[in-house]
Amino acid sequence: MSENLNNFSFSDKNKLIAVDILKKYPVERKNSAVMPLLDIAQRQNDGWLSRDTIEYVAEYLDMPIIKVMEVVTFYTMYHTKPVGKNLVQVCATTPCWLRGSDNIVKACKEMISPEQNTVSNDGLFSWMQVECLGACVNAPVVQINDDYYEDLTYDTTKNILQSLIDNKPLQVGSQSGRKGSRAD
Ligand code: FES
Repeated sequence: MSENLNNFSFSDKNKLIAVDILKKYPVERKNSAVMPLLDIAQRQNDGWLSRDTIEYVAEYLDMPIIKVMEVVTFYTMYHTKPVGKNLVQVCATTPCWLRGSDNIVKACKEMISPEQNTVSNDGLFSWMQVECLGACVNAPVVQINDDYYEDLTYDTTKNILQSLIDNKPLQVGSQSGRKGSRAD
């Protein structure tokens, strides 16, 4: 890796994590580490990948920037614009839509921002509509940062957002009281 001239570099902790990640791949295949390295770069950079972070990862792996950009722009888990401290991803694919995802979107519009991909004034939230999150059995579903909240209604969505504002503990998973995906 040559000298880094941009404003981003891995923290000391992430430098160690990056070394561990690279150990999982043959030296001649180190480019395969691009996804986990982008992930730790994004987490360090408040949830999004600035131009500097992308260039840093490209330089770290001796990859052309365009190749890293191809990965960043292909996968929806990477974000190229700032996001809120809590990124609310609302699934609106058919099972969630049939089970009321319009109401979840309504709650997000009212409590976060009328437009998706807009950071709220206090920086606490942004929301975006996404395709299936793979938890359709407990539709409708949102993902907030790394956690899933399921069996949602307009009211339970608002309660979750309010708990995040109030810094109160939250229960992840189903909000309807059922265990896992059980019907009883
Ligand atoms: S359709 Fe929403 S989780 Fe699959």
